[in-house]
Amino acid sequence: MSRSTGPVVLGIETSCDDTAAAVWDGDKIRANLSASQAVHADYGGVVPELASRDHERHLVPLVQATLKKAGVELDQLDAVAFTRGPGLLGSLLVGASFAKALSWGRSIPLLGVNHMKAHVLAHFIEPPFPTFPFLCLTVSGGHTQIVRVNDPLDLVVLGNTRDDAAGEAFDKCGKLLGLPYPAGPLIDQLAAGGNGKRFSFPPSNMPDLDFSFSGIKTAVRYFVRDQEAADPGFVSRNLADLAASVQDAIVQSLITKLEKAAEQTGIRELALAGGVSANRGLRSGLEQLCIRKGYTCHVLEMAYCTDNAAMIARAAAFRLAQGKADDLDVSVEARLNWSEG
Ligand code: KG4
Ligand code: ZN
Repeated sequence: MSRSTGPVVLGIETSCDDTAAAVWDGDKIRANLSASQAVHADYGGVVPELASRDHERHLVPLVQATLKKAGVELDQLDAVAFTRGPGLLGSLLVGASFAKALSWGRSIPLLGVNHMKAHVLAHFIEPPFPTFPFLCLTVSGGHTQIVRVNDPLDLVVLGNTRDDAAGEAFDKCGKLLGLPYPAGPLIDQLAAGGNGKRFSFPPSNMPDLDFSFSGIKTAVRYFVRDQEAADPGFVSRNLADLAASVQDAIVQSLITKLEKAAEQTGIRELALAGGVSANRGLRSGLEQLCIRKGYTCHVLEMAYCTDNAAMIARAAAFRLAQGKADDLDVSVEARLNWSEG
């Protein structure tokens, strides 16, 4: 490996069902790999115990492959970072145990990273980078947040979901349409060939900058039940239009609140992050908002939208640059506080 300009950080991400490892080298990513878990498909959702076991199986060979791809030897690592939470406790423990052992064994700093902040900071992996302050709509399988990013270590949550996360809304509505888990990417594909104006599902109407998606889910449930009772096979014959209409309702709820946040704060730079930010309807919704208002728009490459370890290593490098690191007794937390990591 040629000498880098900044610290070389190994990132480990095991918060849910993808085992991921990446090497951040000063100002760029050298390798970013993940192993996804097929084991959950038969169950219609992630089975925590199976996820932990698969992380155990995948992690060591994945780290070896990542270091090899990066052209980095173990003794060239300056720090090791892992996802501290939020996530599945057993899964988080696998990554944390590995990172702690490596930190102790090689006497390098250890950094436990907040997964949701890392999703936001994924915007600093590949240029063009946002300028501060900016607003980030972070939409994943477990969270939906509007975050005001003042600097890399000063992130303030302005709005949150009151019930389901946006990704959960995609997955649950998809299930009602007979789609397998995770339905989000399938709805995206189907919606590309459908008419989103054909069926109307009410978008959420929460106060302030908060979200709710249970209303859309309930509306889809009763609509599907009634249509199937009156006309069996309705859903499969109208799948593309139904998927597009569900997507439109979820996207409209998200974009309306982001627009409100921009108006309230006066911030004119908007970003998307998290697994649902891979959604083409949402990306184009943001682009249209930014064109209409003259705002600057930031979307991520697909590989940095869904769970990845590059964002963990990147977020850790920001903390390391401020002289911050964690002790070996740092704990993983399924519901990690926003102020931590
Ligand atoms: O951020 P992420 O990879 O994992 C969590 O931290 O939760 O997000 C996963 C979520 C799932 O709910 C999945 O259905 C959704 O992101 N998702 C999508 C798309 N790709 C992933 N939802 C809609 N459209 C997509 N293209
Ligand atoms: Zn995530």
